[in-house]
Amino acid sequence: MRDVAIIGIGLAKFGERWDCGLKELMVEAGIAAIRDANLNSKDIEMIYGGTMASGRFVGQEHTAALMADQLGLHNIPAVRIENACASGGTALREGFMAVASGMHDIVAVGGVEKMTDVTSGEAATALGGAGDQEWELFQGITFPGLYALIAKRHMHDYGTTEEQLAAVAVKNHHNATMNKYAQFNKEISVGEVMKSKVVADPLKLLDCSPISDGAAVVILAPLETAKKYNDTPIKISASAQASDTLRLADRDSLVELKATKIAAAKAFAMAKTTPSAIGAAEVHDCFTIAEILAMEDIGFYKKGTAAKAVEDGETAIGGKIAINTSGGLKGCGHPVGATGVKQAVEIVTQLRGEAGGRQVTGIEKGLTHNVGGSGATAVVHIFERYN
Ligand code: COA
Repeated sequence: MRDVAIIGIGLAKFGERWDCGLKELMVEAGIAAIRDANLNSKDIEMIYGGTMASGRFVGQEHTAALMADQLGLHNIPAVRIENACASGGTALREGFMAVASGMHDIVAVGGVEKMTDVTSGEAATALGGAGDQEWELFQGITFPGLYALIAKRHMHDYGTTEEQLAAVAVKNHHNATMNKYAQFNKEISVGEVMKSKVVADPLKLLDCSPISDGAAVVILAPLETAKKYNDTPIKISASAQASDTLRLADRDSLVELKATKIAAAKAFAMAKTTPSAIGAAEVHDCFTIAEILAMEDIGFYKKGTAAKAVEDGETAIGGKIAINTSGGLKGCGHPVGATGVKQAVEIVTQLRGEAGGRQVTGIEKGLTHNVGGSGATAVVHIFERYN
């Protein structure tokens, strides 16, 4: 297997993008990534595109070929990856394997979603398809409800409080104020989170990631030739993925995501590193409780201790480990198909030392964690500086 590097990154601003359509989002992120990689776009041999539910949101399927078409990458193989909210992370893993195997040299990995053209109810129904349609969605439970059940159990087992959950949102909104690509640019307080309307008890509006539009693209190349394109290629030192039951009721435990635990353990073994070596991590905080679970299941904190660590500021920039410096899904936004690729863009930005006000000092390694549904898919990547 060959070593693989990211040589280019690009984002389309996340938010309610009523100024453009799906295609323009793809082009905005794609052109930025191609320019960043100092490439001739004709060098790109293959494209993987992550999109979860573009048919439901904007009536458009066949999005990988569309991405290639819009970026002028005519006639190359283009494959769409649908893996719920982990579509972007899974697309990155597929691209990694294509370059690592020697099948292709230069591969583009994109993620896109345009969610705000439908009502909130329609969006919730489309997203609900990532769970068990027959036994969960049809019975009336959507994603805020599923994560509320997880939160209730975590509170019962470990004494986690609603204020501690709110601290996740406060931190991530703060980080987002320093990210020009983020959907939200305003600080919030624990009090505001506590007073926001209840969506699914104990989760309130400000515990939830929003409905978002956005796109992200990264360009991959073999590490040995990466410096031809870019002075600061970032090595992907691990790519791991696991799955679990779609239905929450079939799980052994409500307070852990087994797929995350398995994928993270595999990733640390592949990268020959440990959680304590990670300087910054972008984890899947679709709801505040999800960030707590991720920190524990990846191995940054023991089960039942992560909520207090957030409250104590240990996961802020400058703390013990910086979690979700981009603002995470909560503050930066969550255009579902794009999120996993955006997480990689943020970690590459950090490892290049280009994150401005949200830069983590002395960072050598970073991690991304992308979840599909309520944990039926988890994808973990580890990245490191390559000098
Ligand atoms: N965080 C912060 N602010 C939010 C927000 C969020 N998650 N969602 C909406 N807002 C803001 C809007 O910008 C708007 O502000 P404005 O009045 O200043 O313009 C206001 O709150 C009302 O927005 P609206 O769109 O009417 O909210 P809604 O009640 O229709 O939707 C949620 C709110 C939480 C239900 C919706 O964002 C949601 O479903 N989130 C979860 C998405 C999800 O499940 N993703 C997949 C995860 S696995």
